[in-house]
Amino acid sequence: MSLLGTVIGALWAMLPAYIPNNAAVLFGGGRPLDGGRNLGERRILGDGKTWRGTIAGITAGTLLAGLLNVLRERAGAAFGVTLPSFPTAAAVALPAGAMLGDILASFLKRRTGRDRGAAFPVLDQLDFVAAALALAAVVVPNWTRETFTPGRLVVVAIATPALHLLTNAGAYVLGLKDEPW
Ligand code: CTP
Ligand code: MG
Repeated sequence: MSLLGTVIGALWAMLPAYIPNNAAVLFGGGRPLDGGRNLGERRILGDGKTWRGTIAGITAGTLLAGLLNVLRERAGAAFGVTLPSFPTAAAVALPAGAMLGDILASFLKRRTGRDRGAAFPVLDQLDFVAAALALAAVVVPNWTRETFTPGRLVVVAIATPALHLLTNAGAYVLGLKDEPW
């Protein structure tokens, strides 16, 4: 497969994991997942991880995967590539894993003394991808192996931090997010 085909296939396969964070920023707020409770001196997760944001994120990612399934044939023909489709379990596992990774990262941030919104380079940019792939690998192992070929994984590892930094900077400029990371 061509380089362009690999890049398009990789981004297509990851889109249901990319969108949840942005949906959480847009729709988040309200009751925190940890109910305001502490673990030791600090919050378990903090006010940045809410029920609304988490549910909105998983819903948005799952709906997007469904939309991509509908568009797949036409988009593939337009680009001249074969694009991956998302079985229902994968359509849920990718966004759920992404949200889980983000939540685990906040847990780690609080345990290492970082307040809500503090930057944690590398973890901030890759937590959700690693967790999305890990959950997909557990829930739909064959699909994950066939979809995330070594070539596509390389693209994901390079493109994800760049996309994440760009969208977060954009959300910051638009006043949707308190910090640009
Ligand atoms: N958000 C949410 N629920 C989630 C994830 C995010 O409501 N599960 C919303 C919150 O309003 C949050 C914003 O999206 O403030 C930005 O997300 P993120 O950068 O992940 O959270 P931070 O506020 O920076 O908190 P943390 O330091 O824990 O990452
Ligand atoms: Mg943050």
